[in-house]
Amino acid sequence: MKCKICGKNAEIQAFGMWLCRDCFLKLFFRRVNKILKKYWHGEKIWVALSGGKDSMALLHYLWENGYPVHGYHINLGIGDYSRSVEDIIRSYTEELGVELLITNLREEYGFSIGEIRRKPCSACGTVKRYLMNKVPRENGAEILVTGHNMDDFLEFFIKNMLGKNYSWSRKLVPYLEREHPKLLPKLRPFYLVGDKEIEIYAKLKGVKYIKENCPLAKLSGWKEILYEIEKKKKNFRYEMILSVWEMAYFFPQEKREIRECKLCGEPTSRDICSFCTLRMRYGKKSTG
Ligand code: AMP
Ligand code: FES
Ligand code: ZN
Repeated sequence: MKCKICGKNAEIQAFGMWLCRDCFLKLFFRRVNKILKKYWHGEKIWVALSGGKDSMALLHYLWENGYPVHGYHINLGIGDYSRSVEDIIRSYTEELGVELLITNLREEYGFSIGEIRRKPCSACGTVKRYLMNKVPRENGAEILVTGHNMDDFLEFFIKNMLGKNYSWSRKLVPYLEREHPKLLPKLRPFYLVGDKEIEIYAKLKGVKYIKENCPLAKLSGWKEILYEIEKKKKNFRYEMILSVWEMAYFFPQEKREIRECKLCGEPTSRDICSFCTLRMRYGKKSTG
């Protein structure tokens, strides 16, 4: 096969065509740079690292392209899985020379996701949203960057439509502005690239990441369906995300008054935030 762009030998099938290594990397850069150029204006970036391919590839991308990047990881305390994740993040950030900050949920707040029996994934979401905003902000972050990718947003979109959660769809955009002085703006540079493209990027660049999924995670099967459609409809995912991006602004913004939690002072729409609620239920320490 020949590369559709330059005519050299092609070994990669991506973006709806055969490509050589260099042309793949150029297209990948173009898609990610489109988002960064539009929404990043020199702020100090903190990238939230889960240890998975998306956030670790994003760390590599930002590092290689000279962004002022800092890593942040939450050790959620999911047994051996969390230990391996922390090890790989420590060694990869060290290899790249990127500063890293880690919060150990069990040590700092007295509970872990591994010991929550009822809906651990929902508690995990609460913990991540809370700490990913609070800790980087307190340490000088001006913008929080996550590894959420195109396929994640397409899956969220389908689920929101089926569940009639229209106001959530308003959030399915690459950049969320600061809603409150204590809420960091959120940027998702991988909005226009999905699992497949990121996996190829990670392989070409030798990115280190953890291959196993979280043992508590349940896969929905929607991503496989998206890739099945793409076998018949070239560029389906990309065209779909461009529509989602436009459509998202038509959905009503969730109307919520943001207050400060009576216990910890962090932004919430309730008297006591959902993190403090979890901490009171499962935690052994009382500090915030
Ligand atoms: P997930 O919610 O696991 O799909 O992860 C979405 C994004 O959240 C990842 O790409 C990371 O940027 C971030 N993230 C997930 N888990 C962690 C973690 N334990 N520590 C820091 N950031 C995380
Ligand atoms: Fe949150 Fe698995 S990473 S439950
Ligand atoms: Zn609170």
